[in-house]
Amino acid sequence: MRPLVAHVDLAAIRHNHAVARRCAPGRQVFAVVKANAYGHGIREVVTALHDEADGFAVACLEEAAEVRGMHGEARILLLEGCFEPAEYQMAARLGLDVAVQGVEQATALLAASVPRPLNVWLKLDSGMHRLGFAPEALRDWYGRLQEAQQVAELNLLSHFACADERGHPLTEQQLECFLAQLDLDFTHRSLANSAAVLTIPAAHMDWLRPGIMLYGASPFAELSAAELGLKPAMTLAAQVIALRDIAPGESVGYGATWVAQRPSRIATVSCGYGDGYPRHAPSGTPVVVRGMRVPLVGRVSMDMLAVELTDVPDATVGDRVELWGAQLPVDEIAHACGTIGYELLTKVTARVPRRYSAA
Ligand SMILES: Cc1ncc(COP(=O)(O)O)c(C=O)c1O
Repeated sequence: MRPLVAHVDLAAIRHNHAVARRCAPGRQVFAVVKANAYGHGIREVVTALHDEADGFAVACLEEAAEVRGMHGEARILLLEGCFEPAEYQMAARLGLDVAVQGVEQATALLAASVPRPLNVWLKLDSGMHRLGFAPEALRDWYGRLQEAQQVAELNLLSHFACADERGHPLTEQQLECFLAQLDLDFTHRSLANSAAVLTIPAAHMDWLRPGIMLYGASPFAELSAAELGLKPAMTLAAQVIALRDIAPGESVGYGATWVAQRPSRIATVSCGYGDGYPRHAPSGTPVVVRGMRVPLVGRVSMDMLAVELTDVPDATVGDRVELWGAQLPVDEIAHACGTIGYELLTKVTARVPRRYSAA
């Protein structure tokens, strides 16, 4: 069996969920489990949070149906709403909460014949300019949807563009825009992603929507997950599958981009870009072997990568190699690769078996 596993610590996810709750006592939580629970496995994560979260948030009907299959009662929010009019019927049958983020969706909802009314989350474009109604249009649609037979609860939703950059002026503007709609009699309101859950109490409203923090990564560049009290949920672990000594001037890997400056011990490791490890990870990106950080060298291959183990003389074939996780924050690897933890976690490919522990 190929020695590469993504270990997922479900107890860490429950711990991180409890951190979100502690940040905002008395609020309800939509645990964001879209994109296969940010790569961790939607079935296992929903099961782990079955009795903890008040609801789950997903990106599409297919994900929602999977969650409903595991949880009969939880509220399940379609964050982007229905992509075509026919989806409203299925959403109603599954008892979903749906975002309504634009004129086309709102019009289709009013024309839909649904077996039971839906909980609707009218989306406000408070400044991100990705989805949602501008404030004046929101007021108009609030009036039209309030009386509609297709609508059970009418709720308010918006999303921050820059809450991960503390003190960004757009965040304050977005919050003000949201608060300016408080005179409308929505049943529930929701604004806070992880960054806002952790640092913007004024944005907590009725329902939180934490995503990345549940998985033990930080939404902030300058605040680590550990500093936020979060525990890493995924550890990507491979093995040393070959070892060799090379002389100064000899190169490693495709393109011969890394050249030894000293007599070097090179380990070949069972993980590559076909597993989701970023191909553009530069030489020097750390991995952990025998508790020591050692550098990636040369280009990442599809199924393998190379590290320099000269400073770990006892290392042998079969040694465990942590690419990220319990000993090496995924955010640090993301930073070295010019991306964010979200991308690395969601891009771990299907061929990497997930192994779960709940203790
Ligand atoms: C609308 C919405 N709410 C909440 C979240 C969760 O955000 P985060 O993972 O930063 O907590 C997302 C994630 O992209 C989202 O799109």
